[in-house]
Amino acid sequence: MMTVPLLDMKLLHLRRKTEIEQAVARCLEHQQFILGPEAAALEEELAAWLEVPGWRGVGTSSGTAALMLALRLLELKGDDEVIVPAYSFMSTASTVALVGARPVFVDVDSASLNLTPEAVVEALTPQTRAVIAVHLFGRAADVVAIRSALEAAGRSDVRIIEDAAQGLGARLDGQPVCTLGDIACVSFFPAKNLGAYGDGGMVFVRSEAEVQQLRMVRQHGFAAKYNSVVLGYNARLDGMQAAILRAKLPDLHAVEEERRANAARYRARFAASSLPDGFALPADDGADGRFYHVYNQFVVRAPRRDELAAYLDKRGIGSAVYYPKTLAQQPSLAAFVPHGSSFPHADAATRDSLALPIFPGLTAAQQAYVVEAVADFYSEG
Ligand SMILES: Cc1ncc(COP(=O)(O)O)c(C=O)c1O
Repeated sequence: MMTVPLLDMKLLHLRRKTEIEQAVARCLEHQQFILGPEAAALEEELAAWLEVPGWRGVGTSSGTAALMLALRLLELKGDDEVIVPAYSFMSTASTVALVGARPVFVDVDSASLNLTPEAVVEALTPQTRAVIAVHLFGRAADVVAIRSALEAAGRSDVRIIEDAAQGLGARLDGQPVCTLGDIACVSFFPAKNLGAYGDGGMVFVRSEAEVQQLRMVRQHGFAAKYNSVVLGYNARLDGMQAAILRAKLPDLHAVEEERRANAARYRARFAASSLPDGFALPADDGADGRFYHVYNQFVVRAPRRDELAAYLDKRGIGSAVYYPKTLAQQPSLAAFVPHGSSFPHADAATRDSLALPIFPGLTAAQQAYVVEAVADFYSEG
């Protein structure tokens, strides 16, 4: 039987094996394991990679740490509100609560599962200080439309934080994510399109003052060695992870193109299969091609999702549910969910979303096998 894992990271490793091993050897030689020259170089190289002048990177210990630090820049207080999509990874909302502010959940677009400008405007209150726009699964949230809607509502003071943990490389109207809002955060979790061999993340900002503030808060609030002027964390980027990421960065555009080609191949194959009502492919680049989707995940909407996942598993095919609960359903966030609120689109996605293998190196034969297995599942009733 053919097997198709959800993700095979080893394939990408083998493509850059020599460069990665050289990067690790370099670290063993210079012995700078915390931040150091590798992290500083990655900060510059990744900011330059965005190709929009003015952006500066600050490396962090994870994407979650990046969000914490980004939010700390806003100096939020207890009544301050941050609008977040009800459907995302945990840290999009937990970080807001952890810095002492209030996450305000809004429902997402039924197809892209991203924030909509309408929902953001509807959730505005005098306490709104920021919006976290998540580029879910590698497709940009429409930050341009969200920005215009905020301006039209007289709220240009509301800061937009991009949570590009899954979206690095994606574009909106040709402009890369991480340069669309006011502050951006990425994650280098191994399964991301630019993945480290451990945890890592980065914040992008535009001013020297913000860079300095982030660097302080990332390291115990130290303005100078052992002089802490603001409470901070240990949220530093690991030097060896930075070195590995530097070795992988030159391959990132090829990784995106391959994920996109795999998505296109799925689309062609699924279009030629008979599938039940309710089965849907992920949002694409959009009719006018505004969204350059980098498919960190290829998430279909599947009736009888759990049975399908079990069936695929029996046929040797990996899949995963992102996410089985909305953020509003997380017990740890319950205190932030007003009585009577509802998030029908996010709720629906918890019941029928299923990520299929999309990783670089997936073969056409493996994709054909996945599509055939999905079609067989539905035809067998
Ligand atoms: C949308 C989103 N935000 C934040 C994070 C947090 O990143 P990390 O796991 O590096 O802390 C993730 C990681 O899965 C994510 O998918």
